[in-house]
Amino acid sequence: MLQQVNGHSSNPDAHGRKPLREDLQEFLGQDAPLLLLDDLTKVNPVTLETVLRCLQARYMADTFYTNAGCTLVALNPFKPVPQLYSPELMRQYHAAPQPQKLKPHIFGVGEQTYRNVKSLIEPVNQSIVVSGESGAGKTWTSRCLMKFYAVVAASPTSWESHRIAERIEQRILNSNPVMEAFGNACTLRNNNSSRFGKFIQLQLNRTQQMTGAAVQTYLLEKTRVAYQASSERNFHIFYQICKGANADERLQWHLPEGAAFSWLPNPERTLEEDCFEVTREAMLHLGISAPTQNNIFKVRRKAVLVLRGDRQPFS
Ligand SMILES: Nc1ncnc2c1ncn2[C@@H]1O[C@H](COP(=O)(O)OP(=O)(O)OP(=O)(O)O)[C@@H](O)[C@H]1O
Ligand SMILES: [Mg+2]
Repeated sequence: MLQQVNGHSSNPDAHGRKPLREDLQEFLGQDAPLLLLDDLTKVNPVTLETVLRCLQARYMADTFYTNAGCTLVALNPFKPVPQLYSPELMRQYHAAPQPQKLKPHIFGVGEQTYRNVKSLIEPVNQSIVVSGESGAGKTWTSRCLMKFYAVVAASPTSWESHRIAERIEQRILNSNPVMEAFGNACTLRNNNSSRFGKFIQLQLNRTQQMTGAAVQTYLLEKTRVAYQASSERNFHIFYQICKGANADERLQWHLPEGAAFSWLPNPERTLEEDCFEVTREAMLHLGISAPTQNNIFKVRRKAVLVLRGDRQPFS
């Protein structure tokens, strides 16, 4: 039974139960069970301290997912843990007779939701809400879910449908680098902070194969173009263009090598997000042709000239 800590009395209550403080000490004194508690509803008594200690013990043992009833608590490992996201593990969760019996994992949530759609005679939409403070790992988690669905919801029967599914899968995954290039920036809390909210809709057909996706974005922090807090940066795309344009493009876009722009602060910071090639490649996969890309980057270049305070007329 769950108990709330309401007081610190040391006397047993009318039912002969131990006082809570003692319970708390007893609970916190046992390290091994803390680590093994894979659901926070099993923490007893429920206090901020016991819950945090439980999560801490799991974190120290590289166990980054814990259930809290029907919610999944994900801790940010802040280090690569490739075995935690392998295709092999995706398949394990997908093939498990009862995925909820496996260790808590984002793939478990993904699979459960997928089965909820599948098991119903009349399919019902399912939603996963990913929330947390900046840097908590929401974007990472959403990417994991998209990768998971791209794998499990793309096992078509015919060769033709295989090709279509593969194309959709690639497009869905390629939307991430594009959205992140144009909508993410380096902040004090997160080198790749999303400066917008997004609603991603994955569409399945009657046989639960992925047939399309739609992404709706909202509340883009547009003011960042003109103002950045100290030690923060503008949107990644500006730095990508400045660092990654080739000689021809530099001439065309009037971007001399090494030019400094006052509204593109901290360009010396090298982030893995600064990769122009990845953005271009992803745009191509999304069907944005090289000439269209060129037009888009020209617009960005005009913004850069404005940012520089350059008043020359736009071409
Ligand atoms: N599961 C994970 N495994 C490894 N690294 C992770 C994981 N989750 C997050 N990270 C690391 O933490 C960083 C921040 O995560 P992420 O960008 O997803 O945060 P966020 O919640 O989307 O923040 P914001 O609200 O600022 O956009 C990532 O760039 C990545 O380096
Ligand atoms: Mg984010």
